[in-house]
Amino acid sequence: MHCIKKITKDILWIGASDRRLALFENVFPIPRGISYNSYILLDEKTVLLDTVDKAVSEQFFQNLEYALNGRPLDYLVVNHMEPDHCASMNELLLRYPDLKIVGNSKAMTMINNFFDFDIKESSVIVKEGDTLNTGTHTLSFYMAPMVHWPEVMVTYDKTDKVLFTADAFGTFGAINGNLFADEVNFEKDWLFDARSYYANIVGKYGVQVTSLLKKMEKLDIKYICSLHGPVWRDNISWFINKYKKWASYTPEEPGVMIAYASVYGHTENAADILASTLADLGIKNIEMFDVSVVHPSVIVAESFRFSHLVFASTTYNTGIFCNMETALLDLKAHNLQNRTVALIENGSWAPSSGKLMKEIFDSMKNINVLDNIITIKSALKSNQRTSLEQLAEEIAKSVSILTPIPDKEKIENPAMFTLSYGLFVLSAKDGKKDNGCIINTVTQITDTPVKRISVAVNKANLTNEMIKKTGAFNISVLTTDAPFELFKLFGFQSGRDVDKFDGVDYTEKSENGILYLTKYTNAFISARVIAEHDYGTHTVFIAEVTETKKLNNDVSITYAYYFANTKPKPKPKTEEKKKGFICTICGYIYEGDVLPPDFICPICKHGAEVFVPLK
Ligand code: FEO
Repeated sequence: MHCIKKITKDILWIGASDRRLALFENVFPIPRGISYNSYILLDEKTVLLDTVDKAVSEQFFQNLEYALNGRPLDYLVVNHMEPDHCASMNELLLRYPDLKIVGNSKAMTMINNFFDFDIKESSVIVKEGDTLNTGTHTLSFYMAPMVHWPEVMVTYDKTDKVLFTADAFGTFGAINGNLFADEVNFEKDWLFDARSYYANIVGKYGVQVTSLLKKMEKLDIKYICSLHGPVWRDNISWFINKYKKWASYTPEEPGVMIAYASVYGHTENAADILASTLADLGIKNIEMFDVSVVHPSVIVAESFRFSHLVFASTTYNTGIFCNMETALLDLKAHNLQNRTVALIENGSWAPSSGKLMKEIFDSMKNINVLDNIITIKSALKSNQRTSLEQLAEEIAKSVSILTPIPDKEKIENPAMFTLSYGLFVLSAKDGKKDNGCIINTVTQITDTPVKRISVAVNKANLTNEMIKKTGAFNISVLTTDAPFELFKLFGFQSGRDVDKFDGVDYTEKSENGILYLTKYTNAFISARVIAEHDYGTHTVFIAEVTETKKLNNDVSITYAYYFANTKPKPKPKTEEKKKGFICTICGYIYEGDVLPPDFICPICKHGAEVFVPLK
């Protein structure tokens, strides 16, 4: 039975996924499977864009037959001749003998190399910029040699603004129902595989990928249809920017990857101490890998991600430990550049892995190997701890240069206070417990295909904890008639201490079972969390709107209105003057001569920066 997806009015995805294959290209572990994407354009002429791996050919032919609905197949465009995309070509020609095969001359040579059928009569050879009119669509062909094989080209449909990119923008991972990248949490669930696919499959060819990216800049692209993984139609620039970094061998993130090879745990111990010291020095982005446990492709992918790389290896048969050597040679083969590398060697009687690892990195481009190579003889001794700490300091300093801390002198709080905000009651429900808090951070992000909002919530708030647990919340949009008492009720006390909804007789439940206010409110919005991001003091929840209702035409309150009209004015000075600082947000007074710089207002949870001295 067919299983296809519509991309545009005339273009369908007719590919399939393989979740049984253990090793892609018989090399790379793919626990999440792989998709082989094939597309069909149904215009006055019918055009198939690439076929699929033989493992999924049965599904593919059912899809193709259904999509054609009895029409002949006029063209096959061959963007890439690797067998995971062309293995079904032989059978395709048997089924559709009048088919014309469109490809560049290198592809035609490869067809002759792979197959025995004669393509002389059926071949349409194209070169850079050539076009094929199919009725209402015009396809243009752009050569992309070595992304990933020499015959690779990409095809652009001017009518629907679709770019069929061959392996470029592909990723490991089967298509699990949702074809489009905006239908899944790509950054959380797919980026690891996308990076691994890029680094391991085309990472060696950064120059050629950059050249393709330059060609793409001249095209108006609304869809990216790769031969593997999700189709892109939203936020395409985010993925293109990842490609720009990977292709130029620019670190994707400041941070440290530590890969170690340890037979009896002593080298691992040094790696752990280094990681721990880096963490103490404030480095948050650290990943560690035992090269005997993870596949070398993981080391390659993560090396494309991080700015700083540490390799710690025992000496083995007077060389580098075998799994580490394989990983390092793989890095070299994939042309990794522009990284800072630190080395730790171990050897009980003749340590040499450090020197040998350095030789590999010295033969690569723009790899800065730090001079401080730590040598362990069997096990790390206390008198070596200082050297390891010095190495950690050197790495941490170098990482922090890439993540500069903003100069506080250049940031004036009054400028931040000019931002305009609304005010809202954010409510959630966990079991029988209802809770809510005042926030000013609701923003609509998208309108189509679904409405999404973002909400930033202080992590100290119980409501934050409840949303993290349940993934759902309501927003009650407050109006200018909301009294100060309402702000005190929901904003100046914790739901851990009181039941904030106790005695509030102006609530109803929306379909998600969460309370919203029916008074002092002109609308409510229900939402379901699809992503959350940790920003130290606050969590930013990204959520899809599931229900909304406009309750009346009252005017929404703004933060400025609240300060000017709702919040009581400071009481006249009494004779007995207190020494201390007042919170400009909620009026809480801290008594004392010095306000600790990390002080957090116990009422409204704002930091010391919003406090001013009492006058
Ligand atoms: Fe997906 Fe280079 O083949």
